[in-house]
Amino acid sequence: MANSILVGAQWGDEGKGKIIDFLTEKADIVVRSQGGNNAGHTVIVEGKKYVLHLIPSGILRKGTMCVIGNGVVIDAVSLAEEITGLRKKGIRVTKDNLLISDAAHLTLPHHRALDRAKETAKGAGKIGTTGRGIGPTYSDKAARTGLRTGDLMDARRFSERLKSRLTDANAQLGLLGGETVDFKQANAQYLAAAKTIIPFLGNTVVWLADAVRENKEILFEGAQGTFLDIDFGTYPYVTSSNTTAGGACTGSGVPPNRISKVWGTMKAYTTRVGEGPFPTENDELGDFLHGLGREFGATTGRARRCGWFDAVFTRYAAIVNGIDDIAVTNTDGLDTMATIKVCTAYKLGRKTLEYPPTDLDALAECKPIYEEYDGWQKDTTSARKWGDLPVKCRKYLQAIARLTGAKLSIVSVGPGREQTIVV
Ligand code: IMP
Ligand code: MG
Repeated sequence: MANSILVGAQWGDEGKGKIIDFLTEKADIVVRSQGGNNAGHTVIVEGKKYVLHLIPSGILRKGTMCVIGNGVVIDAVSLAEEITGLRKKGIRVTKDNLLISDAAHLTLPHHRALDRAKETAKGAGKIGTTGRGIGPTYSDKAARTGLRTGDLMDARRFSERLKSRLTDANAQLGLLGGETVDFKQANAQYLAAAKTIIPFLGNTVVWLADAVRENKEILFEGAQGTFLDIDFGTYPYVTSSNTTAGGACTGSGVPPNRISKVWGTMKAYTTRVGEGPFPTENDELGDFLHGLGREFGATTGRARRCGWFDAVFTRYAAIVNGIDDIAVTNTDGLDTMATIKVCTAYKLGRKTLEYPPTDLDALAECKPIYEEYDGWQKDTTSARKWGDLPVKCRKYLQAIARLTGAKLSIVSVGPGREQTIVV
């Protein structure tokens, strides 16, 4: 048995899609278990760019089965568009390579409207969500008022339930001053999308249990990152799902004793989109990376906030996820830097902290303690082996792995499949 989970060890956008694509060469099945189309994975294969939101990046490999688990929230309209878009690019999407849980909750038009209206109402206190309706969908799930993918199979029942949900949601939208949702239009749009999705629906728990019994290799593709986790992230500046390793089990029905390994993905520096604390944020580094055309969001196009590598957070990510091996991405982003800083601990008053404090006010007062590393000032994008990397670069990468407390196993030096070094 070699089933592994890959999580983001920072605030998302660590390059998980690319690493998953690389690791799927060996996997039989790739599973998404949480989040929704707030995620955006960019994968470049043979010069062609694919941006995936809900479908696991395993779809780009022939013979890989992709599963969307019960823990994912699905905007059926957006998923139908994603399937059609992939087919237009020549990617085969059939029942033989995509299976969707019939118990996954549906993100509906009023969830998106509520997401936006709530953000507007929060004003300066906003979270900076992707506006995809993720929070309101998970709220309905927890409140036991949600609709699930399986509900799409009976059109009449779906319409009845949608109508009843819209009555409540529109009243709430009215109070928030948001735009209300028209039942007829929403219903027609969802029933049309349902036609594309229904063939893929099934009981993914049983299917995955059979696969485990047959010794198939499963790779769980995390979305977002550890510090956007609803429990372990920088609450309330988080997303609404468990982005950490445990979420892979609850979001798929594959039990913990069937998992053998956890991979953590992290950038050679740090980025975050949306609001919330970011102790090592550095505008100069941000301007520099944006100037290279890097660090713009795949889902919303927003410029990401950038900062130095923060080992206080990645160290916490290593313990909360049980990270065994790490993949460091975007190493090439630092190629021209003269000196590179790494945050090794925080100073809070007279105390030195190895892990981030839970309280956001305390976190805001933390001062990063930095170590400086000499930049390698050489191009790494054409490196293919560990030995091809400049000595200073190797030293830097080993240092961030050591500070995190996990084994360095993969280094990525560009978006291409071939720009991946196994250490
Ligand atoms: P939501 O998930 O749209 O509710 O957004 C909540 C927070 O998570 C915001 O700060 C978003 O920018 C962030 N977020 C959600 N999905 C992603 C992602 O895939 N990458 C990076 N940040 C994300
Ligand atoms: Mg992304």
